[in-house]
Amino acid sequence: MNILVVGSGGREHAMGWKIKQSPAVEKLFFAPGNAGTAKIGTNLEVGVNDFERLKKEVLNHQIDLMVVGPEVPLAEGIHDFFAADHELKDVQVIGPKKNGAMLEGSKDFAKAFMTDFNIPTARYFTASKNTVQEGLDFIESLSAPYVLKADGLAAGKGVIIVEQKDKAKSLLIEMLDGKFGTASKKVVIEEFLSGVELSVFIATDGTDYVILPEAKDYKRIGEGDTGLNTGGMGAISPVPFADTEFMSKVETRIIKPTMNGLRLKEIHYKGFIFFGLINVDGNPFVIEYNVRLGDPETEAVMLRIKSDFVELLLGIADGKLAEKKIEIDEKTAATVLLVSGGYPGNYEKGKVITGLEQVTNSIVFHSGTKWLEGNMVSNGGRVLAISSLGSNKNEALKCSYKNAEVIHFENKYFRNDIGFDL
Ligand code: AMP
Ligand code: GLY
Repeated sequence: MNILVVGSGGREHAMGWKIKQSPAVEKLFFAPGNAGTAKIGTNLEVGVNDFERLKKEVLNHQIDLMVVGPEVPLAEGIHDFFAADHELKDVQVIGPKKNGAMLEGSKDFAKAFMTDFNIPTARYFTASKNTVQEGLDFIESLSAPYVLKADGLAAGKGVIIVEQKDKAKSLLIEMLDGKFGTASKKVVIEEFLSGVELSVFIATDGTDYVILPEAKDYKRIGEGDTGLNTGGMGAISPVPFADTEFMSKVETRIIKPTMNGLRLKEIHYKGFIFFGLINVDGNPFVIEYNVRLGDPETEAVMLRIKSDFVELLLGIADGKLAEKKIEIDEKTAATVLLVSGGYPGNYEKGKVITGLEQVTNSIVFHSGTKWLEGNMVSNGGRVLAISSLGSNKNEALKCSYKNAEVIHFENKYFRNDIGFDL
């Protein structure tokens, strides 16, 4: 069969790398992909939100199954578009329709969903222009720090945590006045939860689900988890505190009620659910839902899946996930991101990348790269994700760090302390 992966980052390269290993695959495509995906498949020059052009390419290349990497096309209804088109309706789409994508596309929807189905999450109030005073009163009732979230998608920038009550109140007004455009027409105000975060993923066909390896993501730019938030600077899988007891709480308190909620709301969800969790004194709480896999978590997780990933995708698509088994490697995977100096602020692209041929015992997934006049160059803030397996965390990290040194581009930066807290 022919498979298309929609997206252009390390997550999509990692999924493609795993898909490519399946004997079921004839041709593999990426839209738009990057310099790394071009080595394992064919890049199609189409943006992830350009559904009409995606349709042309899908028909042209006789694509049987499409995996959607990022959230925006899902929230914009890519699956609904395919399902409603008579020429595309037989193409299998991995990723929820618009109604399921609301779990990530609207934080207010997600919080109401969790409340309806008794899923542990932080206390909250959703404020809008009509309920400013109630919002201010809710802030008054909380203790510091204060968490304010734009309701809609804001490219990962819509969550602000502040220490001072006055600042939280003025921020609420600014957000409702359009600080994040229409994304902050509604603002979710939350109680702050203190604990260690982790990412848990399931694949689901709408009825059954399979739990994928969990991972921990390192979001801050600076060592010791300091400085600005990024798209993710590294990942480790497995997460030691996610032991059998903790994961059984995750399953009974969070995964099963979520599946039940989807069923009761008649949301036929086919794809991945990413539970952004926080461990508060041994008890899991949901910080957020995402309707896709994580980046860079996927770059670690894929190394630990031993079974055929395409079989899993087919199980999702055909509603036969109950028949599928996932085999997971007990080893530890460690991913270290090489990023452009200056990221997540201003940075330069187009830096020539060298040394990739000297990498040993790691897999380098491309996050932001392209070919330019015969050179491979950086093409984003996050440039390369170096992933390794080891019999323990230190062994895996040692390998990724060794390779982080042999790859060069101007102003390369990486965190030296991935996994420091585990
Ligand atoms: P998000 O962009 O939704 O992933 O949120 C960014 C980060 O804000 C999360 O990864 C958490 O570290 C933090 N965060 C969000 N909500 C809360 C909360 N209620 N309590 C503590 N931290 C939070
Ligand atoms: N690593 C966090 C995310 O993908 O949103």
